[in-house]
Amino acid sequence: MTDFSALLQPDHGQPAHAIHIVDAAGFDAWLAQQTPSVRQSVAGQRFVGKPGSVAIVATDDGWYVVAAIESGPWALAKLAETLPEGVYRLDTEALLLGWLLGQYRFDRYRKAPNAGARVLLVEDETQIAQAIGLATATALVRDLVNTGASDLGPAELEQEAESLAQRHGATVTTTRGDALASGYPMIHAVGLAASDDRAPRLIELEWGDPAHPRIALVGKGVCFDSGGLDIKPAAGMRLMKKDMGGAAHALALASLVMAAKLPVRLHLLIPAVENAIAGNAFRPGDVLRTRAGLTVENTNTDAEGRLVLGDALTRACEESPELILDFATLTGAARVALGPDLPPLFTDDETLAADLLAAGIAEADQMWRMPLWNAYDEMLKSDVADLVNAPEGGLAGAITAALFLRRFVRNDIAWAHLDVFAWQAATKPGRPKGGEAYALRAAFAMLARRYPQA
Ligand code: BES
Ligand code: MN
Ligand code: ZN
Repeated sequence: MTDFSALLQPDHGQPAHAIHIVDAAGFDAWLAQQTPSVRQSVAGQRFVGKPGSVAIVATDDGWYVVAAIESGPWALAKLAETLPEGVYRLDTEALLLGWLLGQYRFDRYRKAPNAGARVLLVEDETQIAQAIGLATATALVRDLVNTGASDLGPAELEQEAESLAQRHGATVTTTRGDALASGYPMIHAVGLAASDDRAPRLIELEWGDPAHPRIALVGKGVCFDSGGLDIKPAAGMRLMKKDMGGAAHALALASLVMAAKLPVRLHLLIPAVENAIAGNAFRPGDVLRTRAGLTVENTNTDAEGRLVLGDALTRACEESPELILDFATLTGAARVALGPDLPPLFTDDETLAADLLAAGIAEADQMWRMPLWNAYDEMLKSDVADLVNAPEGGLAGAITAALFLRRFVRNDIAWAHLDVFAWQAATKPGRPKGGEAYALRAAFAMLARRYPQA
C-alpha cells in the first residue's frame, strides 16, 4: 500500500524544486516578466499555460517547475503523477489530497513500475495530517474493492475490521453459524451457498465513550455477487468483486471517525456474505424470515444486498442511535439514473439531507438527492408475505430498493442511504480506473461538523 505519510512533509526550508503555478489567463503576463532564456526554454517545451501541462526551467544550480493546473480538488494529482522523483515546494495553496492520490497505485498483484516518491513540502502540519488521513481512507476503499474475491471473502472483511479495531482500541463481535441463522435470517439465507471458509456473518465494531451520542455506519459486504440462482450474465458479473464496496466505505469512514476521535459512540455493522450458487442456495419464491419479524418473499436472488442490509439495519436500530448512514452498491438502476460518479442520497431527514449535500459541495464529493417516494412503497407488496425484495417491472429500481431498506429502519432515527458505484470506469487525474470512494469525504465532513471536538 502506498505510504502517503512520506509524500507530504513539514517544510523546514529543505532543498526543493520550486513549483510555480500559472493559469491560462495569467500566462502571457507571467511570460512577459521572464528573462529571454526562460522564455526560450518554456517555448522549447511548447508550454503555453494549457491546464495540465508543465515545463521545467533550468537554473545555474538546479531546476524548477512551471505548471498550469486544472481548477478543483484534483489540481495537483496530474502534477504528482508526472513530475520526476524528488522534493518540491509550491508557491500557491492547493488541495493536498490530489498530490497524494496522484501517487496511489494498486500493487497487490503486480509491483508498480516505481516512479519514485514525489515529496511536497508544506508549512501547515494540520493540513498534512488531514490530507494523509483522507488519502489513506480513500486508498483503503480502493484496495479492498480492487482485490479479487478469492482474496477478499467474508473472513478477510472480518480481518479488516479486526485490524482497524486493534489500531483504535475498538471491539469486534462477529455473529455466524446457528446464531446467524436464528438472529439474522436474511444474512444467513443470502450467504448459505458459499463454501464453509466463506460463511456468512455479521461483523460489528464498537468504539468510543458510551456517554457520547451513538451513530451507526452500515456497509453492504457482498464479497462477490454472482446473482445467485437468478444468475447474472457475464458482463453483469464481471465487476462484482466490488459488491463489498459499501462495506469498504463504512470501514474507511469508521477509521476516519476513530482517527479524528470524534465524540461519538460508533457502531459499525457489516453483513458479510458471498452470493453464490449451490444446491442449498436460497431460491426465487422462498419466503425469508427477518430479524424485524417481517416475512420477505424472495422474488429475485440478485436483489441480495437489500436483504442482508435489512437485518443489519434492524440490529443498528436496536441500539437507538441518533444517526444511521448506510453505503451500498445496491442497484444498477442508480447508475442508470445518475451515472457512475454521482451517488444518490436517500433520506427523509431534511437536516441530514441539507448537511450531507452541503458537505458534498464543500468537499467536491457530491451526491444527488433522490426521493423515498411513498407512493411507490406499494410496489413492495407480496402475494404471500409482508413484502418482496424485487418488485415486478423494475421501474424506479434505486428508489424501491431504498424503500425496502426503510422498512427496516425505525422512523424516529435519522437515516441516510447512499447507493454508491465504488468504481472509477475511466482513469482521471488522481483516480485510476478501478475501485473508488464516493461521498466518503463528504460524509466525514458532515460528521465532523455535527460532532465537533470539545
Ligand atoms: N450488486 C448489484 C447492483 C449493482 C449492479 C451495482 C451493477 C453496481 C453495478 C445488486 O445486488 C443487484 O444485482 N441489483 C439488481 C436488483 C434487481 C434484481 C432488482 C439490479 O440492480 O439489477
Ligand atoms: Mn445482486
Ligand atoms: Zn449485489
